[in-house]
Amino acid sequence: MKVTVVGAGNVGSTCADVLAYREVANEVVLVDIKEGIAEGKALDIWEKSPITQYDTRTIGVTNDYTKTANSNVVVITSGLPRKPGMSRDDLIETNAGIVRSVTENVVKHSPDAIIIIVSNPLDVMTYQAHITSKLPRTKLMGMAGILDTARYRSFLAEALNVSPKDIQAVLMGGHGDTMVPLPRYTTVGGIPVTELIDEEKLNAIIQRTKTGGGELVKLMGTSAWYAPGAAAAQMVEAILKDQRRVFPVCVKLEGEYGIKDCYLGAPVILGKNGIEKIIELELNDEEKEMLETSRKHVVEVMEVLDKMK
Ligand code: NAI
Ligand code: 2OP
Repeated sequence: MKVTVVGAGNVGSTCADVLAYREVANEVVLVDIKEGIAEGKALDIWEKSPITQYDTRTIGVTNDYTKTANSNVVVITSGLPRKPGMSRDDLIETNAGIVRSVTENVVKHSPDAIIIIVSNPLDVMTYQAHITSKLPRTKLMGMAGILDTARYRSFLAEALNVSPKDIQAVLMGGHGDTMVPLPRYTTVGGIPVTELIDEEKLNAIIQRTKTGGGELVKLMGTSAWYAPGAAAAQMVEAILKDQRRVFPVCVKLEGEYGIKDCYLGAPVILGKNGIEKIIELELNDEEKEMLETSRKHVVEVMEVLDKMK
């Protein structure tokens, strides 16, 4: 199995590293536009293999897509990250051009690949990749929900003083402050979270989750990479190993949840064909309203992209 990761920056190189040490693929190709950066990081990951014990070959290239040919999965992380004071949407102009040209190259050399978008603004960059690639929705998706639920789960684990492994959660909507955490569908070792934490504390955790990306941008001057890189790698693993994992993923909705023609986070089953199924949860009126607010926000940014063309 072969995976390409485009963008050898913070998120892309972390993703490649996780893919290698978990031996998700036999070969991982890192691509970047900056001379030498992908080659250097791929070599560094390969030199780590005798220490942490894996045999995945990691190869780096500068903009040479012939080396990516026939990849099974491609993760696109190329693009500018946020700086303090910026929203994800502020990145649209630069990142749309990057995602467009990268997607063209990817599809040319790996026409059968499943593509996972990471670049921000996530939902709209996934839409951009759809416009360029014309791939069916099963084979093109965006990574955000695994990261956002991981933040939520880690904050809950801390508040409840339990293992994060035992917290299961789902979250919907766009990757931004309008995301829709669903406490009704959050459990701790099978116990509904609402039985273990009071409403005020839970609401504070939900609010922290919504602005979790910004919290890290403020601390580091750029956006996060360990959790995002690992989240993208977890999606690749679910696909290549046909695990049929249930994850929140950015997917084109075509009638599910009463929403059409919009890329939005929803729970799906991920397996060898990519998105095997979109799971439709019963939402209550309040949740439906929050999802509609999120949809409207994503559609506004999709329209900005449409006008740019
Ligand atoms: P970074 O700046 O560390 O890395 C980006 C890399 O992309 C750079 O090495 C750059 O040279 C490369 N690049 C730029 N144009 C390229 C092109 N045309 N072809 C190949 N490579 C190109 O940024 P970082 O932190 O890795 O973030 C990458 C993107 O992922 C950003 O847009 C960021 O906002 C987004 N992100 C999304 C998350 C999500 O949950 N979906 C989470 C974290 C980051
Ligand atoms: C994050 O949530 C910036 O989207 C990125 O960390």
